[in-house]
Amino acid sequence: MSKLYLIVVVVSLALENKVSGISLRVVGGYNAPTEFGRFHASLQNVSGYHVCGGAVVSDSYAVTAAHCLVGADPKYVKLVVGTTNLNIGGQEFDVASIVIHENYNSSLRTNDIAIVKIDGVFDKRNTDILEVDGNQLAEGEPIILTGFGALTANGESSRVMYALNLSVFSQETCVYAMRYSKEVVDTMFCTFAQIGQGTCHGDSGGPLVKNNKLVGLVSWGIPCAVGFPDVHTRISSFVDWIKHKIN
Ligand SMILES: *[C@@H]1O[C@H](CO)[C@@H](O)[C@H](O)[C@H]1NC(C)=O
Ligand SMILES: *[C@@H]1O[C@H](CO)[C@@H](O)[C@H](O)[C@H]1NC(C)=O
Ligand SMILES: *[C@@H]1O[C@H](CO)[C@@H](O)[C@H](O)[C@H]1NC(C)=O
Repeated sequence: MSKLYLIVVVVSLALENKVSGISLRVVGGYNAPTEFGRFHASLQNVSGYHVCGGAVVSDSYAVTAAHCLVGADPKYVKLVVGTTNLNIGGQEFDVASIVIHENYNSSLRTNDIAIVKIDGVFDKRNTDILEVDGNQLAEGEPIILTGFGALTANGESSRVMYALNLSVFSQETCVYAMRYSKEVVDTMFCTFAQIGQGTCHGDSGGPLVKNNKLVGLVSWGIPCAVGFPDVHTRISSFVDWIKHKIN
């Protein structure tokens, strides 16, 4: 696309981003198969509104994006897992504690990861633990994004989970495409499909999986699928941190 067009889009979207707040949703996806509900956790406020996604990584812990929970009191956060439809089914847990990454920087969005410990243990009958993937991602590798995020820019988050098949985007091109927004650093990676497919409000913190392993968490971007890559926390950079917090 032309440079001028890119600049116009970047500026208008930066404004929209400000108004629409912090969390993102899957645009242009397909209805998620039920097995995705087994590892995707919905973080909700006490009224039962989905706020962010998360991924189950042990029998009592989930990971999500730090920006979803910074400043949150565990008393006012609930976690629902075990369903692709928040109106039917799923199991709800209270949150016992939240640990935000020590080096999370909200303006740079670096180290955008947090751990949530539930009060109790997940039920194996409706939950799967996702293995965290320490391997490097290669450009073009297929990955799947799941989320309860909004389906349109001004929409509320969805009660039904969507999934989107994506591939790992060129890091170099992503750094360039996002240069007026934030720096895309090595502990982040990007996905891009096409205009009309990507993340939106409510998708933040949600898992990206490759071969049933966790490779990313939705972190930031220019919502909602307007032609820019989505940027994710790169899980391989945080495997030791996650393991340390869980053990
Ligand atoms: C939960 O989120 C919804 C939607 O943003 C909001 O209307 C509601 O007031 C929130 N509830 C609480 C207790 O914060
Ligand atoms: C985030 O990083 C910027 C740039 O290095 C720094 O100026 C700022 O103080 C940092 N903020 C926090 C909360 O650490
Ligand atoms: C998404 O990818 C999965 C796993 O590779 C595949 O089974 C499925 O058919 C794909 N779905 C779509 C809509 O492309």
